[in-house]
Amino acid sequence: MKNLFYKSIVMFLLAGMVISCADKDSPNYQYMPDMYAPVSYEAYGEYDIFQNQQEAKLPVEGSIPRGWMPYPYENTAEGMAAAKANLKNPLPYTEDNLNEGKQLYTIYCAVCHGDNGDGQGILAQREKILGIPAYDDAGRAITEGSVYHVMYYGLNNMGSYASQTSIVERWLIDHYVMSLKDNLEGKPEREFEEVEGPAEENLIPSEAEITEILPEEDQEVSVERQSQGQQADETEN
Ligand code: HEC
Repeated sequence: MKNLFYKSIVMFLLAGMVISCADKDSPNYQYMPDMYAPVSYEAYGEYDIFQNQQEAKLPVEGSIPRGWMPYPYENTAEGMAAAKANLKNPLPYTEDNLNEGKQLYTIYCAVCHGDNGDGQGILAQREKILGIPAYDDAGRAITEGSVYHVMYYGLNNMGSYASQTSIVERWLIDHYVMSLKDNLEGKPEREFEEVEGPAEENLIPSEAEITEILPEEDQEVSVERQSQGQQADETEN
């Protein structure tokens, strides 16, 4: 028994000597090192192979986020006029689309513009916001294109809805606004189009279509802006 006691003390001392030799500043043995040393480059790592040693790169110039489309009209009087004249609603005018547009309109616009678009929403009645026009205002003569433009950028006291609504949602609202305008003007209801499949199909216009709807002198500008990959969606609220 005593023998075993002394033996284990000697074993402890020996083990202590071995451990004390280890250099604490250098890494220890690695078992299965594959788990520690990555084969690929680490995100945000520094490597000589990259420019500025920086692994993280900006997206290639001209790339745009999936599902997002650059809006080719500028936030200027000319941009507004161009959108007013040329921009058309790509969504079919169906009963479903109109009903969805109505819901969204009621959420986002009716507080100011009123349920029927006469500019007498609850905020107008309480005089919280002034100068809200009716949609049949002859001086403004709104069109599908101008309504979208105003939702995208806002106009004076009216904020932009670009960050709160998607492209599809804005076009849905647009259909409803135009139907309110027709009602206010006493025009007959526009006939519904018959289409199959969801509203989103064929919605995102191709670049060719975008440049087509722009007046010629603006086309170059639009391509330039697209290549900067700007996101106007985020700029305003
Ligand atoms: C906070 C109140 C408010 C809300 C909410 C609001 N608007 Fe407006 N809207 C205004 C005001 C104020 C104007 C007049 C701006 C001006 O001409 O100075 C206006 C103008 C307009 C015009 C006429 C633009 C033109 O061509 O002169 C349209 C179209 C329009 N709004 C659509 C919408 C739609 C669609 C929504 C919902 C997505 C909406 N508005 C939400 C206050 C609002």
